Amino acid sequence: MCHIKKGFILLLTLTFLLSAIIYFSDFSLKIAVPPRTLYTNVVNQIRSYYMVIKFPSGHDNQTIFLAPAPTPKAHQQVQQRSIQISKQTTDISVHYHVAHPSNYHFILDEPEICSQWDPFLVLMVPVAPHQVGARNAIRSTWGNESTVQGKAVMTLFLVGLTGGSDSEKAQQQLEEESRQHRDLLQSNFVDSYFNLTIKTMVIMDWLATRCPQANFSMKVDSDMYLNLENLMTLLLAPNTPRQNYITGMVMWDRPVVRNKNSKWYVSEELYPEPKYPTYLLGMGYVFSNDLPEKIVEASKEIKAFNIEDAYVGACVKHVGITPSSPPDPSQFRAYLGQYNREDFLRVITTIIGSPQQLIYIWKDVKRPTKRDQI
Ligand SMILES: *[C@@H]1O[C@H](CO)[C@@H](O)[C@H](O)[C@H]1NC(C)=O
Ligand SMILES: *[C@@H]1O[C@H](CO)[C@@H](O)[C@H](O)[C@H]1NC(C)=O
Ligand SMILES: *[C@@H]1O[C@H](CO)[C@@H](O)[C@H](O)[C@H]1NC(C)=O
Ligand SMILES: *[C@@H]1O[C@H](CO)[C@@H](O)[C@H](O)[C@H]1NC(C)=O
Repeated sequence: MCHIKKGFILLLTLTFLLSAIIYFSDFSLKIAVPPRTLYTNVVNQIRSYYMVIKFPSGHDNQTIFLAPAPTPKAHQQVQQRSIQISKQTTDISVHYHVAHPSNYHFILDEPEICSQWDPFLVLMVPVAPHQVGARNAIRSTWGNESTVQGKAVMTLFLVGLTGGSDSEKAQQQLEEESRQHRDLLQSNFVDSYFNLTIKTMVIMDWLATRCPQANFSMKVDSDMYLNLENLMTLLLAPNTPRQNYITGMVMWDRPVVRNKNSKWYVSEELYPEPKYPTYLLGMGYVFSNDLPEKIVEASKEIKAFNIEDAYVGACVKHVGITPSSPPDPSQFRAYLGQYNREDFLRVITTIIGSPQQLIYIWKDVKRPTKRDQI
């Protein structure tokens, strides 16, 4: 008799606990933003589990008993868990393919910045979370130009997740930097060289969803010199198309690298054809801002591979657009060799060696010359 009673009470308690879990997770899911993918669904479920943890008062103590107290450590564990689980689901429920931006969401965002600034040109800089030196050099040089030839220009940086052993501290620093400068966007993918295609597609997604009103955009690497006067002259030229336009350093007939030791290696499984479609070298390419939405849409049908610029080329081809050669192709230069001020006055963009070099060159290029003083 006593055994049966104990068993019955245990059963009752278990049933109660189970319904409590179901009730709370259901409730939280209803108030959450409609999930875009199964992946976000899973993340939301984990978040709602965490929300149960987060309400230690006001609800019955049984529920609290189920979950650990919300100490920062527990918070971190839940975050790590959500990342782990999202990795697992990537294999089975990834939306389109791993690089499609619908699989990711923004942790740091500036959703209103385009309606506030109404930019003509947006400069989007993919950069690693720890590269604060590169960001600051850009902020004090070309990233600090807010009006060029009377047109509004805006510079934003895009990073992925902070990694490594002190990832939490790095995240705090990033959030502080974001509060200070209001120019950081962060998405929840693993930030690595291999994942540059994801980064670029997230940039395209941000432009398409947060900034459709801009006229032109540029994807420009963090180790680039940029001459905005020359870029603006190109964009405002009467012959420059306002739509379906993308230009930069054009790469024709590039063979796919099959050498496994190369950092540009792509397997035949990821990309079977021996050559890439015509594309623009990733260091810096400029496009009319109707393209991001079209590229994100085309990307649904183009399997991802890890060469971001060639991948954008494949999407652009799918849209039915041919990359344009710039009016003066020598203005998009990989390397200029030894420093010569005249070269930097003439180019639109070129690779430079370090953040210090960018600051040095910028000062020298901007210094008043005898002609300016007259
Ligand atoms: C939960 O337990 C605490 C003390 O442990 C008590 O003060 C509180 O009233 C309890 N809450 C409920 C809803 O029973
Ligand atoms: C940006 O330029 C303004 C002047 O237009 C200057 O006052 C400011 O210090 C510059 N910012 C940086 C980070 O160099
Ligand atoms: C690329 O990012 C995805 C999504 O965050 C992640 O699952 C994967 O491990 C990353 N790959 C590399 C090589 O960093
Ligand atoms: C920029 O785009 C807006 C529409 O979004 C258009 O009204 C405006 O004329 C464009 N500006 C230039 C200089 O092309």
